[in-house]
Amino acid sequence: MEGNFTMRILVINGPNINMLGVREPEIYGRKTYDELCRTISGHAAKRGAEVEIYQSNHEGGIVDKIQQALGNFDGIVINPAAYTHTSVAILDALKAVSLPAAEVHISDVSAREDFRQISYVRSYCGKTICGHGFDGYTEAIDWLIDEAGKAE
Ligand code: DQA
Repeated sequence: MEGNFTMRILVINGPNINMLGVREPEIYGRKTYDELCRTISGHAAKRGAEVEIYQSNHEGGIVDKIQQALGNFDGIVINPAAYTHTSVAILDALKAVSLPAAEVHISDVSAREDFRQISYVRSYCGKTICGHGFDGYTEAIDWLIDEAGKAE
């Protein structure tokens, strides 16, 4: 990777991720959404990447944000939360902008209910990380940076 290349990463979190620390702590832990944002920002800074963190409870807001990433970001980390299991629109938006993307879930969705076993975005995302808690986001950032390095 060129020394002067600064990777611009967009982190997207779907519905109820803003409720971290309050929602189902036995599944998602006691750390808050603010703590998640600090973890992500701190890691991106350490890796020399720029990061914007976006959260929405609305499917269309997430679609708009993905579309706006075109030309403005080099990669996307996305936890679509419940929309993982329902949203063709989010999958189509990722395909439309065609940016490298990693799917993250705080919990291990593979060990949960049947309705969580489908992920629409998975077929697009180059990497999926489940059940690593907040570390999943930092691992996804590392993956995007590594992939960008390979592409040089
Ligand atoms: C989640 C898992 C989803 O099934 C759930 O709807 C969420 C969070 C996770 O990060 O573990 O809201 O994406």
